[in-house]
Amino acid sequence: MAGSLQLMNLKKEKDVLIAASLLSADVLNMATSIDSLGGEEDWLHLDIMDGHFVPNLSYGPSLLKALRKKYPESFIDVHIMVEPAEDFVDMFLDEQPSALTIHLEATSHIHRVLQKIKKAGCFAGVSISPGTSPELLCPILNMVDIVLIMSVNPGYGGQSFIPEVLEKVKFLAQYRSLSKDNFLIEMDGGLGPHNIAEVVAKGCDVVVAGNAIFGQSNPREVIKIMRSKVAERSV
Ligand code: DX5
Ligand code: ZN
Repeated sequence: MAGSLQLMNLKKEKDVLIAASLLSADVLNMATSIDSLGGEEDWLHLDIMDGHFVPNLSYGPSLLKALRKKYPESFIDVHIMVEPAEDFVDMFLDEQPSALTIHLEATSHIHRVLQKIKKAGCFAGVSISPGTSPELLCPILNMVDIVLIMSVNPGYGGQSFIPEVLEKVKFLAQYRSLSKDNFLIEMDGGLGPHNIAEVVAKGCDVVVAGNAIFGQSNPREVIKIMRSKVAERSV
């Protein structure tokens, strides 16, 4: 898949891609929060919550529209925690996300929804919550660019990392090395300088962090520290 190969190449240039989750940004000063990253982030991660699939509400397509206008070159990684996923995909695709990730648990028609995202020229991602087995993803791994493993129960920032999900990364990394599939493995929830080296060593390509980055006075410095933790472990 041409799109996936491009994403894999993007990753090859770095030990890890770091996605800053805007769920923990200052909502009244979103641009100031993003600018505080100083361009050190690889991706901006935008969480959309519906108060139904997950017990919280967050942002909507209007924020994606404003972000795309202000940051036309940024890689905007949109993670929609909404059900049924197919009812919300068009309104986000209209605002040009770089990648759009839906939950396996939030649709009865995962294949159809992923096809639609790919057809729109957007990178397509599938996510699973901590209670979902990665084996369920096998029939669709040849059509996704990203697999997003939730390492907390989706819905809130600032929760504690669930270590059992690391087995899923091992499974997916092994599956990928035996198949011709080219998806990136992304992890989301409870991540930061204290555990980034471990999850990257297990096979994660993209690490999402919200509270760990925006909860500190110097977000740019936190991302640099996260990269250095990965570099130290890999020497
Ligand atoms: C949780 C969201 C995450 C969240 C992670 O449902 O999908 O992206 O922002 O937040 P932290 O890094 O604070 O655990
Ligand atoms: Zn997320």
